[in-house]
Amino acid sequence: MRYLVTGGAGFIGSNLVDELVRRGHSVVVLDDLSTGNERNLDVVRDKIDFRIGTIIDLATVQSACKGADYVIHTAARASVPKSVADPIETNTVNIDGTLNVLVAARDAKVRRLVYSASSSAYGESPSLPKTETMPAEPISPYGVSKYAGELYLQVFGRVYGLENASVRYFNVFGPRQDPNSQYSGVLSRFMFALVRDEPPVIFGDGEQSRDFTYIDNVVDETLRACEAPGASGKVFNGGTGARITLNRVLKLLQEITGKTVCAKYEPPRAGDILHSQAEISLARKVLGYEPRVLFEEGLRRTWKWYKSEYGGQ
Ligand code: UD1
Repeated sequence: MRYLVTGGAGFIGSNLVDELVRRGHSVVVLDDLSTGNERNLDVVRDKIDFRIGTIIDLATVQSACKGADYVIHTAARASVPKSVADPIETNTVNIDGTLNVLVAARDAKVRRLVYSASSSAYGESPSLPKTETMPAEPISPYGVSKYAGELYLQVFGRVYGLENASVRYFNVFGPRQDPNSQYSGVLSRFMFALVRDEPPVIFGDGEQSRDFTYIDNVVDETLRACEAPGASGKVFNGGTGARITLNRVLKLLQEITGKTVCAKYEPPRAGDILHSQAEISLARKVLGYEPRVLFEEGLRRTWKWYKSEYGGQ
């Protein structure tokens, strides 16, 4: 089969591309390298069709989409605080860009489009764990933008018959997550700090919790969402079903790494939710998904990668 992966040079996208190539599929990657990195594709570079280009340009997406059987749309501005700082840019990439990908997929008559949605759609509602039937109540421009993408997918299903599925990722972590920006995911920031024996920064009191999900789990679930019968038109949680506080994560990391650096506490970030935890029975039932790499094992694998990538100075 032929897959188009938007954002395929990014953290999640490139891990998806690796697995698709390993399974013998033909892969086109479209990435503007704004947050992605060509190095993430080093291993598969000569086996894929890599195009540098942006989803904001419809003609570019249309050309990348030609002949595709499936589209996996991971390209996005993926940060809550970045969306608070620049909501228009997040809106342009995440909503206008997603609309372009949908139009291109519709015109290319692909079999299905699978979208990297976000648990940030749930917002602050206090009930945990989050099930897909709960109302969306995003509390950041980022959450709004990712949720709008889901709605667009469903409407394209109804109006144009485009098969689609959304996977709401819950705090994905693992190798290749870029730690170098203030907007990077918290675990990549923690690992990067520990490699350099610097204090990790915790925004707030560290008692906020997340359903941290190792990358291999969401790769598996996303690929299942492409092909599973009965998945079209649905939204699935992509998590593990558990949650852990940042303070507890840091303790575990200190045990795993043998580093004793303490956290530096700073004021909470605007737009942040407090707790997040997925309920994954729908994904289990419809997709046959099971989170196989548990949190601690994921932390160990990730630490090993950060040490070899950024250690050694
Ligand atoms: C993350 C993803 C988002 C995804 C969502 C799904 C990133 C950058 N964001 O958002 O794309 O859709 O999960 O649920 O991967 N924090 C610190 N210290 C730091 C950085 C962050 O304490 O150095 C805190 C934040 O204030 C927040 C928590 O850690 O309370 C998680 O932040 P972050 O990793 O940015 O993820 P989310 O905002 O949950």
